Amino acid sequence: MADRVRIYEVGPRDGLQNEAVAIPLETKRAFIERLVAAGLPEIEATSFVSPKAIPQLADADALLPNLPRASGVRYPVLVPNERGMARAEAAGANALAVFTGATDAFTQHNIGMTIEASLAAFEPVLRRAADLGWWRRGYVSVAFGCPYTGAVDPHQAVAVANRLLELGVEEVCFGDTIGVGVPGQVRAVTDAATGAGIELHQVAYHFHDTRGTALANVVAGLDAGVRCFDSSTGGTGGCPYAPGAAGNLATEDLVYLLDASGFEHGVRLEGVLEAARFIAGALGRPLASKVGQAGGWDSGSGMATGRA
Ligand code: HMG
Ligand code: MG
Repeated sequence: MADRVRIYEVGPRDGLQNEAVAIPLETKRAFIERLVAAGLPEIEATSFVSPKAIPQLADADALLPNLPRASGVRYPVLVPNERGMARAEAAGANALAVFTGATDAFTQHNIGMTIEASLAAFEPVLRRAADLGWWRRGYVSVAFGCPYTGAVDPHQAVAVANRLLELGVEEVCFGDTIGVGVPGQVRAVTDAATGAGIELHQVAYHFHDTRGTALANVVAGLDAGVRCFDSSTGGTGGCPYAPGAAGNLATEDLVYLLDASGFEHGVRLEGVLEAARFIAGALGRPLASKVGQAGGWDSGSGMATGRA
């Protein structure tokens, strides 16, 4: 059996949260419909955060109940506190991600709490989610470098990840929020995680492609045995509380790499390209991703595939 990789789509959440112009709910729904049609099994749909902090996702309560309920698709949502949990519950969520960071400085800017305070805020949220049988992820942002304090020790990021696991998340996701990481760091974080007792199937990576290192970092993660990677169809994305954060790794670039490397994942490149063209059109921008521009490649004919 071929080696299987999970592609965790963050386009509707991370991809859109930083857009300046309001995106209609119907556009978000139509984007997600296309992601489902492309075979993406995990789609981070929105955030139940303060609408003042992230105005672009203020329609979460109305969006989530309107999504296609295809079997086998999971729609995790970001939840920062009990208020967000109550909203997510009312909207019919059944999967969530809590989010903190490897440094107090970033966490304070992002969610107005120290790391310790964020863990205290997540405790009742994660307890409730576990009681309800929801799937649960925990992010550790700025694991590869912080826009406020600089270099981050991998052991510092892993210590936070272990605290999240103690609170009951099923998976920890290390974020390169501002896209400064390189492959050697991916190996160092993975080694620090496994050295601290975290199992590889509990680890995911979330790379922003600010400096063009995201795909190289995925390869380093694959080589280290990690099998879950985040990406954003169309390569959109960025965190407004992380100066310098640019787009996420594009899902189409990730799918191309995995296909050509023989990994199974269940996602259709042409479907992703269609969704990427749709969201780029809605945002009024050309597609930034490499595979979005060049298309895929058919090794039989030698021709590009999936271009508009
Ligand atoms: P705060 O202002 O410190 O908290 O915000 P507060 O409790 O004083 O609340 C302030 C106001 O927000 C109050 O309303 C609350 O009711 C309201 P007011 O009285 O002023 O009218 N409020 C809420 N409203 C709706 N839903 C809620 C909620 N909570 C409070 N859940 C808070 C603290 C955490 C709420 C805020 O800082 C926040 O929402 N931050 C979210 C920031 C965010 O979403 N950042 C982007 C996602 S993280 C990311 O992108 C990184 C990632 O991609 C990984 C990576 O790249 O590394 C995941
Ligand atoms: Mg991000």
